[in-house]
Amino acid sequence: MSGRPPRIFIADDQRDVLESLRLLLKGEGYASETYERPEALLEALKRRSADVALIDLNYTRDTTSGEEGLDLIGRIRAFDATTPIVVMTAWGSIELAVEAMRRGAQDFIEKPWENARLLTVLKTQVALGQALKRSSALEAENRQLTAADSALIAESPIMQPVLETIERIAPSDANVLITGESGTGKGLIARIIHANSRRSDRGLVIVNIGSLPETIFESEMFGHVKGAFTDAKTDRVGRFELADGGTLFLDEIANIPVAQQARLLRVLEDGEFERLGSSRTLQVDVRVLSATNADLKAEIDAGRFRADLLYRLNTIHIHVPPLRERGEDVLRLAQHFLERHARRYRSKVDGFTESALSALRRYGWPGNVRELNHVIERAVLMARGRTIGPADLRLDGGAPGAEHRPMTLEAIELDAIRAALGRHAGNVVAAAQELGVSRSALYRRMEKFGL
Ligand SMILES: Nc1ncnc2c1ncn2[C@@H]1O[C@H](COP(=O)(O)OP(=O)(O)OP(=O)(O)O)[C@@H](O)[C@H]1O
Ligand SMILES: [Mg+2]
Repeated sequence: MSGRPPRIFIADDQRDVLESLRLLLKGEGYASETYERPEALLEALKRRSADVALIDLNYTRDTTSGEEGLDLIGRIRAFDATTPIVVMTAWGSIELAVEAMRRGAQDFIEKPWENARLLTVLKTQVALGQALKRSSALEAENRQLTAADSALIAESPIMQPVLETIERIAPSDANVLITGESGTGKGLIARIIHANSRRSDRGLVIVNIGSLPETIFESEMFGHVKGAFTDAKTDRVGRFELADGGTLFLDEIANIPVAQQARLLRVLEDGEFERLGSSRTLQVDVRVLSATNADLKAEIDAGRFRADLLYRLNTIHIHVPPLRERGEDVLRLAQHFLERHARRYRSKVDGFTESALSALRRYGWPGNVRELNHVIERAVLMARGRTIGPADLRLDGGAPGAEHRPMTLEAIELDAIRAALGRHAGNVVAAAQELGVSRSALYRRMEKFGL
């Protein structure tokens, strides 16, 4: 189930038509708004977004030219390129339908309509419209995150309240702030909350604010219209619009520029904002999850974070404890990652030696679960037998280990690729250049390593 029913705006001059469409759509889980005049629908669409505009072509009983409806299409398209438009035409006026499509409508229905056909058209257009909005901006990172393994290993007592909170609040629409040291699993928890919410069939849009230059923050979040600034060659949908009906995950929120915090607060309060350079107020229904490893209280005291914004973000607060406080979870996680990476690299490795286990337990895990994951991944690639020994773990700071075993070529390659991608913020072209391979060669290796 999605967070809200799809909104259909309907314009037709016949009240009985509006009424029967409204009833039909209500029964099918849509929310509709009906208008007797084209201008009224146009005004509504300037104020609020719709999933589909369903419009009649003739608004005066004695004309059949369709001029008013065709005109409406043009006036909608003048400010809105994405909302799907479906026209209703009289039987046999195919040429009008064709003209409507030429002016920017997506599909047509002949009157009197067949309910089944009407519903199919609407369903398709709602899906296409949403896909169109999303496809324009979703990053590879997001796709990777949704596809990733999403099991949350948490059996230590200290993690139980965290699990209980996740379970209790996931289905609600409450905003959630997730805090904890780097690598503790904040991103994973955000994904799990979304996956277990009523919005799970809508998108999870992820914005890493830490890697977002301050200068493009506004247009990235709220979108812009053509001409809003020098480089704005076309309209751009912002992250809030992309997330409409779904969930927006704001990662590293301590980095939100102070100047932008008031604007963000407004969206959180009323779901309203404008694209850069536009005066049209858009309305969205978005659930916001956010995460930080910073001390927001200190940020507030230092004047870098607004207290009222924090108040809006942390309706529910989840604090994830560091791995060093999670006792037995270390070994369970190690086994979990071992199985995952052994499967991925088709390795025969299936366990740890006793001394490897005690080394894992003794280590302090400053990089938390992320570090453990990387340690195990490398160990799977380095191990020569079926079990991982302490030397394979390299927990002594990266030296090749007491036995001076050479690393496998694959492990070296993986390290080098990771490091290069890290230095270039994930830019494959730049990383390939540095590594002296072609972009496609790098892509092949990344695919092999599941990066
Ligand atoms: N409890 C867990 N069970 C299984 N996997 C986990 C767990 N916690 C974290 N992971 C995995 O560890 C890695 C790091 O976790 P994640 O990216 O969620 O951390 P984070 O807290 O968001 O870190 P950062 O603050 O650096 O963004 C991910 O691959 C995640 O899937
Ligand atoms: Mg994270």
